[in-house]
Amino acid sequence: MSEKTKVVTDNADASLSLYHLLDPETRACPYPLYHRLREQDPVHWDAYLHAWVVTRYDDVVTVLQRFSAARSPTPEQLTAIGLTELNPIAQVLIRQMLFMDPPGHTRLRALAAAAFTPARVETLVQHIQEITDSLIDTVLPRGRMDVIADLANLLPATVTAELMGVPVADRDQLKEWSIDFSEMLGNFQHNPGRTPRMLQVVEEMTSYYRARMKELEHNPKAGVVHALMSAEVNGDRLTEEEVIANSIITMTGGQETTTNLIGNGLLALMQNPDELSRLRNDPSLVPAAVEELLRYESPIQYTFRLAPEDLELGGKLIRKRQAVMAVLGAANHDPARFPDPDRLDVTRKDNRHLAFGWASHYCFGAPLARVEGQIAFSTLLQRLQDLKLEPVPLVWRHNMIFRGLERLPISFRPAGKR
Ligand code: HEM
Repeated sequence: MSEKTKVVTDNADASLSLYHLLDPETRACPYPLYHRLREQDPVHWDAYLHAWVVTRYDDVVTVLQRFSAARSPTPEQLTAIGLTELNPIAQVLIRQMLFMDPPGHTRLRALAAAAFTPARVETLVQHIQEITDSLIDTVLPRGRMDVIADLANLLPATVTAELMGVPVADRDQLKEWSIDFSEMLGNFQHNPGRTPRMLQVVEEMTSYYRARMKELEHNPKAGVVHALMSAEVNGDRLTEEEVIANSIITMTGGQETTTNLIGNGLLALMQNPDELSRLRNDPSLVPAAVEELLRYESPIQYTFRLAPEDLELGGKLIRKRQAVMAVLGAANHDPARFPDPDRLDVTRKDNRHLAFGWASHYCFGAPLARVEGQIAFSTLLQRLQDLKLEPVPLVWRHNMIFRGLERLPISFRPAGKR
């Protein structure tokens, strides 16, 4: 270890650790922690996470562009450190595009793109409005709803089932698995007690997609699973295990994130009534508002990479294969990139936020997520008036990566009624 790195390690400042994302106060508002990190130590050695934490916009872009995404330990590496029991999880993760570098990533992404065509998104878009309307129809007579349970969970779960080409009747099961999977990605290293549950979830999801693949061989049905099974680029096809692993990441990638876009976004609008009014008065602002809500309360707070070689970032020496947390939520509040970053501005210009990541791993489902968000917010604003938060404490989910609310109970008046 170099002198420079050693000094930083020895001076570990506990108050700057990203671990505080598990404290209720920091979960409620992580931005003061991010501002301190960015101002005091923008490339920070977090001795508690044993990783570098990067919070400036430009540095986060550099990490996403240049560092290695092949960060899931291989089954061989797990065995070498005595964690053989985790191998079934690693077997799935190492086959998912999210955890790959080129050329494996380029190949998978090209095959998956063949499965997720603009025509497929177009068909789904028509359904998103119908699904949103029917969910709002159910709560309208009550005059109150829990936005998370009644809309933000069910809309992406239904859309995901349709996207995958699996029965919509399975949507509650898909949602449950996605919650568990995001729990694993967001908390796993801090919660070894959950290993048995995680192994069970990975096994259940794997068996589920294996069975759907068998059915689809005989009865083809449009959707990501079938498209991945039949995708072919220059004679290259995916193996069964690759279809399963990438069905799992597509299914889980699109749920917790979109749930949180809707929940976090509506809360932010209700806490900024002037911005809410601007949006009500001019619905053409909805697409720009969705980008601003993604920036302002990003559903994924950070992702991580490994240093591809010894290199310097922000004056710090990062050793080859050290982990680097790229804090998207902090980059999206960097005043060097976004003027007055803690202000919600639904008309913000030049809003190139990092909520969907950057470069080769840029979110595969971003076009779909954007449309879901736009339809959810415009329908809520058209059909509900006098939105009020119910007087109950807001509880943020116990997850370091995924930022979202447990519940968002509100009351309202159906539009057009006095
Ligand atoms: C508001 C909703 C969403 C947000 C905020 C979001 C965010 C992200 C981010 C930040 C990444 C990059 C992670 C990294 O570089 O480590 C990513 C990748 C990905 N997302 Fe999304 N996502 C959303 C919705 C979706 C949807 C709807 C789908 C599925 C249709 C999806 C599927 C994926 C997949 C498969 C990847 C991996 C891409 C790759 O590795 O090349 N996401 N997403």
